[in-house]
Amino acid sequence: MDKDGLIINLEEISFGYPDRPPVLDKLNLQFCRGDRMGLMGPNGSGKTTLFHIIMGLIKHSSGRIEIFGRHVKEEKDFRSVRQRIGLLFQDADDQLFSPTVLEDVAFGPLNLGKSQDEAKAIARKTLASLGLAGFEDRITYKLSGGEKRLVSLATVLAMEPEVLLLDEPSTGLDETTEKSIIDILRGLDLSYILVSHNIDFLVETTHHVGYMANGKVSVDPESIPHTHVHTHKHGKYVHEHGRKTPNDKA
Ligand SMILES: Nc1ncnc2c1ncn2[C@@H]1O[C@H](COP(=O)(O)OP(=O)(O)O)[C@@H](O)[C@H]1O
Ligand SMILES: [Mg+2]
Repeated sequence: MDKDGLIINLEEISFGYPDRPPVLDKLNLQFCRGDRMGLMGPNGSGKTTLFHIIMGLIKHSSGRIEIFGRHVKEEKDFRSVRQRIGLLFQDADDQLFSPTVLEDVAFGPLNLGKSQDEAKAIARKTLASLGLAGFEDRITYKLSGGEKRLVSLATVLAMEPEVLLLDEPSTGLDETTEKSIIDILRGLDLSYILVSHNIDFLVETTHHVGYMANGKVSVDPESIPHTHVHTHKHGKYVHEHGRKTPNDKA
């Protein structure tokens, strides 16, 4: 079983896309059960690539991956990883492919061997737990961006993962949907790594933040996400930190 709660252990992982400079360069990362880690880093620094490598969707070129205490090398090893770790894709359109919401959310449980009825019951329950009761027969591709994000999260949670990898779950959301996602994540009894550029979102949802650059992740255990008290134009009106008030310049 996992040693000292270590559930993802990446040692010296390197990877580059063909004919491109390396994206990951001897990257090390340790992630433990119960942890909620934010991951920041410039666009193109390799955050999405890192998640895809952990899930076995792309194959690293060197280094060692241990997940749940087991060395994962081949496709069959990653198949069992994918049953226990859920990936929320950066682009919801990569996650959703069935005609209706219910079919999309039931797909994972069906794949895990549940019957049609069981899978649909799990899907309904998961949708309801995310405030999406009534969405079952909605046409997936007609959903708004925020709705797609929530349904994507439902497809992941319906598989009852032990760990989540969340790739920019807050990007492009309106304030209401962002608040819903914060509440959902805070209410989950799950470990996760969450990519976001939004420090306010990370403050609400994670314990500490790692930073990705030059093919590596640096994690400072002392780096607790926090906001600063600040003053600016219209600051006397009640507002949430990091959001602009009317007429504010960027
Ligand atoms: N399928 C691909 N083929 C070639 N290059 C890619 C591919 N996917 C990503 N890249 C490149 O790899 C680098 C890392 O991308 P990515 O992992 O998406 O970064 P991030 O998620 O941090 O923005 C970028 O330079 C990107 O252009
Ligand atoms: Mg990305």
